[in-house]
Amino acid sequence: MPDNAVFATTPGPDLLTLLETRRSVPPVSLVEPAPGPDDLMRLLTIASRVPDHGRMVPWRFVVFRGEARTAAGERLAAVHRSKDPEAPDAMGKKIATSLSRAPLVVAVVDRTAPSPKIPEWEQHLCVGAVCMNLVTAANAMGFAAVWLTGWAAGDADARAALGLAPEESLAGFIHIGTPTERPAERPRPDVPSLVTHWVG
Ligand SMILES: Cc1cc2nc3c(=O)[nH]c(=O)nc-3n(C[C@H](O)[C@H](O)[C@H](O)COP(=O)(O)O)c2cc1C
Repeated sequence: MPDNAVFATTPGPDLLTLLETRRSVPPVSLVEPAPGPDDLMRLLTIASRVPDHGRMVPWRFVVFRGEARTAAGERLAAVHRSKDPEAPDAMGKKIATSLSRAPLVVAVVDRTAPSPKIPEWEQHLCVGAVCMNLVTAANAMGFAAVWLTGWAAGDADARAALGLAPEESLAGFIHIGTPTERPAERPRPDVPSLVTHWVG
């Protein structure tokens, strides 16, 4: 961005190339280094720079790093065990390690609230934008990321075990780290078939 620019109105080729080539990377292929505290705060600030109708701020973040990832995963596994004691060990293990595969995980909590002016649907869209902004910004900073939900996001008791209020939901766990692999490209939508031009 030029020194005299008020803000970047024309993204350069680097940003467009990133957007054209970014791939999600599985958590097992994300290793240290992850963003440090200052970089993380920068990423969360960028993530929060979203269109937000009525300035509802319908999101908040929960950060899992270091030992806290294992402790949180074990808490989730305990909830799962209490609900499904017959579940295979592999399932319990998968849940117990669900937050400790990548070095840094950010839960994006959706705290959409009833409003006389702003439909709840719009608030959910806004939280989705926060998630995607976080993924994109992490990539722009030289890391890789993936947006996952999984069992815990869909279970009210699991969400409560992570400190979410009953009226909150989990938009996703954004796993962030340094990639050890570049996944192959996956099929993409046939965009022209998704486009119509309004002719009246
Ligand atoms: C809300 C949401 C939840 C997702 N949850 C999962 C998940 O639990 N497991 C999974 O394999 N992919 C999940 N995905 C898909 C991945 O984030 C990602 O889109 C996919 O791996 C392909 O990534 P790419 O097209 O960004 O490379 C989810 C995507 C979204 C938008």
